[in-house]
Amino acid sequence: MVIVPTHVDPAFIDLYERIADCPNCVLARTRTQTVPGSGPANAEVMFVGEGPGQREDERGQPFVGPAGKLLDELLGAAGWTRADVYVTNVVKCRPPGNRDPEPEEIAACAPFLEEQLHLLDAHLIVTLGRFSMARWFPGAAISRIHGQPRTLEDGRIVVPMYHPAAALRNGGLRPVLAADFGRLPALLERAKANRAAG
Ligand code: URA
Repeated sequence: MVIVPTHVDPAFIDLYERIADCPNCVLARTRTQTVPGSGPANAEVMFVGEGPGQREDERGQPFVGPAGKLLDELLGAAGWTRADVYVTNVVKCRPPGNRDPEPEEIAACAPFLEEQLHLLDAHLIVTLGRFSMARWFPGAAISRIHGQPRTLEDGRIVVPMYHPAAALRNGGLRPVLAADFGRLPALLERAKANRAAG
């Protein structure tokens, strides 16, 4: 597969420029810069986290702090690296002090996430934490449904996962996350077969 990084793909360049100029919620006032997403424009797997932290706000890249280091390790459990996957967040600007994103901030940013989902058209979507989980599994408890795939009408598969930061706080979740990540390659193959079958 030829890897086309999103920062040189015209559709993503246009989207990232609009994100960079976005004034649509209060997070625009305190951000250093926006953090739209990273990875190949033709990635088959898309990870959706919560929102940028301090390091991400400084660098303009998602998951480059401690949670990102663990994400890299977990990707290894699936036999992947960051070069194989697309990574973004439900909100593209850092919530001050790393507080939870507010519902109106998530709503203001939702059209960007929807556009990314459409442009990338990844076969497998992995939610990291409760805020991205709520896009596909509203009201669900992560402790009950983590790792359990849902097949969408078009054959794509969505899998809810614990957020890597949760495993940094509670080491007992690390093997749970690693086991869930280890099952992702088989789920990707299943999603590809679903879509090939039409
Ligand atoms: N946590 C997230 O949810 N996203 C990031 O980009 C970094 C930490």
